[in-house]
Amino acid sequence: MKLFKFTLLAIGLGGSLVHSQGYSSECTDMSLIDSWLIGTCPTDDGTGEITSSVYLPNKIENSEGTLKWKIDGSYWSSCDDCELVDSGSTLQCYCDGTYASEDGTTTLNLETYIANYDGHLLSNLTGAITSIPTNSSYAVPTNFDVELELSSENNTCSVLGAYLTLNDPTDCYYLNLGVEYTWACGTSVDNEGWEIVGFAAEDCSGDAVATYTPSNVNTCLTFSTGVQAFSITPLWNAD
Ligand SMILES: *[C@@H]1O[C@H](CO)[C@@H](O)[C@H](O)[C@H]1NC(C)=O
Ligand SMILES: *[C@@H]1O[C@H](CO)[C@@H](O)[C@H](O)[C@H]1NC(C)=O
Ligand SMILES: *[C@@H]1O[C@H](CO)[C@@H](O)[C@H](O)[C@H]1NC(C)=O
Repeated sequence: MKLFKFTLLAIGLGGSLVHSQGYSSECTDMSLIDSWLIGTCPTDDGTGEITSSVYLPNKIENSEGTLKWKIDGSYWSSCDDCELVDSGSTLQCYCDGTYASEDGTTTLNLETYIANYDGHLLSNLTGAITSIPTNSSYAVPTNFDVELELSSENNTCSVLGAYLTLNDPTDCYYLNLGVEYTWACGTSVDNEGWEIVGFAAEDCSGDAVATYTPSNVNTCLTFSTGVQAFSITPLWNAD
């Protein structure tokens, strides 16, 4: 019996990393900004701490007025007045219901699928955490909006045709204007930590045509070929 227990424990340790304590009891400065859960958490050895973030809309949905876990749930499109309660362990929002259920205040215990893994707040909604991400050199932004100023004419951004405000991590963003068009140049503004990659193909397949990071903010990039779509990825500690 003892041997059996030992074997199980060894498998558990080798397979996935777990933190049993709730993050709200060990992390500090918990906040909710633009649907990002942000906190500063201690590393396992207790010598350091890391500020990291979890983007909640790609993990939670509004199901007929009730917050529930769901990949790409996008609860924010039908909920308002969201805040953290219970020391940051719980998300509370006022969410739209349906004809069968009334609008109302709803809560979700975030500690069910979010925990501190060696200093990083991570969600295991899509499966057990088996490795800890590297520490980013970018701080969690104070302003999550980044603007892309684009022109469909090859004019070194002298005249612009579109101003896109982006603030969601997105594998591929294609602005469907209902007509064929491509962007020829563009500038990123107020970029505190996003990597935005432009692609010629509408589905972001193929090689990157241009890459925006905080190091080339306010710089006009002229694209070698017309760009149709962008991937939008956080560079800071984010899940
Ligand atoms: C990440 O940062 C924490 C806190 O500063 C530190 O304890 C840890 O060693 C760092 N990890 C790596 C892989 O650099
Ligand atoms: C996710 O982590 C929690 C603890 O935070 C654990 O109870 C649960 O079993 C984990 N789920 C998965 C799918 O790994
Ligand atoms: C824009 O002009 C530059 C310089 O002439 C050229 O290298 C580039 O291919 C042009 N881009 C597009 C999308 O036509």
